[in-house]
Amino acid sequence: MTHSIDFSSLGTTTLLRGGKGDYVRDLFLDRKVTTPVLLISRSEVRQNYDAIRAAIPRAAVHYAVKSNNHQAIVSEIRTQGGNFDICSAAEIDTILRTGISTSEVIHSHPIKSQHEFDYAVEKGVRIFVVDNPEEVKKLARYSDTRLKILIRFRINTNTRAVVNLQYKFGCTTDEVLPLARQIKEAGHDYYGLCFHIGSQCIYPENYVIAIAAARGLITTLNNHGLPTSMLDIGGGFPVEYVEPYPPIDEFCAPIRDALDAHIAPDIKVVCEPGRYISASPVTLVCSVVGKALRDGKMWYYLNDGLYSTFSGIVFDHCQYPVVTNLRGKEKLSVLSGPTCDSFDVMYDGLMIPEHNIGDIMVFPLTGAYCAVSGSDFNSLKRPDYVIID
Ligand SMILES: Cc1ncc(COP(=O)(O)O)c(C=O)c1O
Repeated sequence: MTHSIDFSSLGTTTLLRGGKGDYVRDLFLDRKVTTPVLLISRSEVRQNYDAIRAAIPRAAVHYAVKSNNHQAIVSEIRTQGGNFDICSAAEIDTILRTGISTSEVIHSHPIKSQHEFDYAVEKGVRIFVVDNPEEVKKLARYSDTRLKILIRFRINTNTRAVVNLQYKFGCTTDEVLPLARQIKEAGHDYYGLCFHIGSQCIYPENYVIAIAAARGLITTLNNHGLPTSMLDIGGGFPVEYVEPYPPIDEFCAPIRDALDAHIAPDIKVVCEPGRYISASPVTLVCSVVGKALRDGKMWYYLNDGLYSTFSGIVFDHCQYPVVTNLRGKEKLSVLSGPTCDSFDVMYDGLMIPEHNIGDIMVFPLTGAYCAVSGSDFNSLKRPDYVIID
C-alpha cells in the first residue's frame, strides 16, 4: 500500500460499514476520543458468521479463538449458535464464560503440554488433534475418559497461503493409518481428519486438493475398520486488506463442490475460521503524538505501534489500510510506533496529506492476529476496546 484512503471516499467500500463508519465520522469531527482505542462491532461479527455459514452450508463453524479472544466476539459467536476451536487453558476459560458445553469444542493444538491436556479433559473437552505418535502416547493418561481424536495431515500445494500453517504441524498422508491404529489401541476413538492449508489463503484449490486427499484417506481407513465421523477443513479464509479478493461465497464455491463430490453426507464437516470472522469487526484509532522531517520524509509517531496492535505486520505478514480525514498534497511519509526502538515502524513510503500532532488516523481490519500478539513493550499502555454496537 502506498496511499492512505480519504474517509469521505469510503462510502463505496465495505471497510467501515455499518455503525463503524458513523462512529469514526464522529471521531474525526470531534476529537475527544482517548486514543489508542480499538472499536469493536458485534453486528459485524454476526455478518461475518452468517456469511461463512452461508458460503459453506455443510460446515459447522468453530470460531478460532486464537485470532481474537475478546469476550464480546466469543460471546457473539455463541449467541449465533457457533462453536469454538481452542488451543489453550485460557481460551477454554474464555469460552466457558459463554455458558457453552465443551463436549463438541475442538482442541486443535497438535502438541499439548501435560498441564494443558489435563485442564482441557477436566473441563470436558473431548475432541483433540494429534499429528505424531508421541502425542498419541499422551492419551494413555486418560484411560477413564474416551476421547475423540482427529488426525491432522498436511498436503503439498504449489500455491501458498500468506501464513504457512503446514510447516510446523501435520503428518504425511502415509502416517495417518498407523496413527489411527495407535489411537484405537490406546482405547480412544479415531474420530476424523483435519488440515489447515494456511492462513489468509487466497487459493481455494488448496482446500480442494486437501479434501480430495481426505477422501482417499477416509476410504483407506474405512477398509481397515476405522470409520471417519468428522472432517475439519480448518481456517484460512481470506480477508480483503489491501488486495481485492472475491466475496466469500464465490471463494468457497469450489470448496462446496469438493465437499459434495468427495465427502459422504454422514461425515460431519467443520470449519475453523478465525481471521474471516474477527478481522473486520475491529478498527484501530490512533493519534499522532510526534512529528519530524527526516531526510525528506515526514515521520509521524503514533500512540500505537509494531509492538502492540500492529504486531500483525510482523507475525501475520499483514498490511492494514490507513484512513485519514485530511485532504491536500500528499507527502512521502513514515508511520512509526511509540516505543524507543527503531524497529517500531509500520509504514515507510506512504503518501499521505500532512498531519499535525493530535490528528487521528484510523486502521480498519485490525481485529485478527493484532492485539492478541501484541505486548506492552516500554511499559506503554495497550489500547482499550470500546464496543460500539
Ligand atoms: C488449527 C487452526 N485452526 C484455525 C485457525 C484459524 O485460521 P484463520 O484465522 O486463517 O482462519 C488457525 C490459525 O492459526 C489454526 O492454527
